[in-house]
Amino acid sequence: MQEALEVEFDTVAAWTEEAVAALGADHAIPAACRGSGRPADLAWLADGLELADGDRFLDAGSGLGGPTAWLVTEFSWRWRGSVVLAEPMVHAATASVRLFGHPAVAAWTEELPLADGCVDAAWALGVLDTVPDKRAVLTELRRVLRPGARLGLLVLVARGERAAELESNSFPTDVDLHRDLAATGFRVHDRVEASTLPDAPPEWTRRADAVEAFLAEQHADDPAWHQAQEQTAVLGGLLDSRDVVIVLLRCEAV
Ligand SMILES: C[S@@+](CC[C@H](N)C(=O)[O-])C[C@H]1O[C@@H](n2cnc3c(N)ncnc32)[C@H](O)[C@@H]1O
Repeated sequence: MQEALEVEFDTVAAWTEEAVAALGADHAIPAACRGSGRPADLAWLADGLELADGDRFLDAGSGLGGPTAWLVTEFSWRWRGSVVLAEPMVHAATASVRLFGHPAVAAWTEELPLADGCVDAAWALGVLDTVPDKRAVLTELRRVLRPGARLGLLVLVARGERAAELESNSFPTDVDLHRDLAATGFRVHDRVEASTLPDAPPEWTRRADAVEAFLAEQHADDPAWHQAQEQTAVLGGLLDSRDVVIVLLRCEAV
């Protein structure tokens, strides 16, 4: 599992920086969001964060930092505050700093180097389904969030038996996810299936596809590329068959 994690979230993530350098800065955000949300997902979650000027925002398991770059760009009209990205894969974390200039720490969400209650809003996108112990992650997020703070989650949940086919992930069921949230001090205000929200605009998709094509061309001979492609294909099949679905949640730290 650790090796699969590193291939998908460190090696391939770091290559993405090369693609952006070659294709142009306007590819950076779609490129760095390939592991997670589309603009409609991010907008739905961002609306639930209730960000106010001065709020400190945490992106836990931030990958290449694309979602936070999207948030800072799209929400600048209503929120200016500090952001911190925490991502355990060192190459991904450093690439995110070079791509977008936001501070990032190399840290697992189970052990965040942050003081109690110092965060006003956070999101963790595509992270919970990659960790076996969801309560450890949620407990630590609850520790760093102040009471009343908002947490946005994008979680791939298991709806069918085939969800167990992807060994690199551990998809929670809906019931377990809600139990874990309640047990760790979160109230769920709203939830939606990502499939009910609009697709990404064509221009966003075109740029993400261009990055994918660039990476395929540059790294076709690398076993890491093939391993990551296989994982992506299996996950795509599970999403198509609805054995796994993407759920977005707006939560409050109580
Ligand atoms: C699907 S990617 C999503 C990345 C990013 N959140 C995004 O939406 O673009 C999952 C991320 O979770 C990170 N991750 C895995 N286990 C983690 C943990 N225990 N704590 C924090 N991040 C973790 C991975 O390194 C990877 O960057």
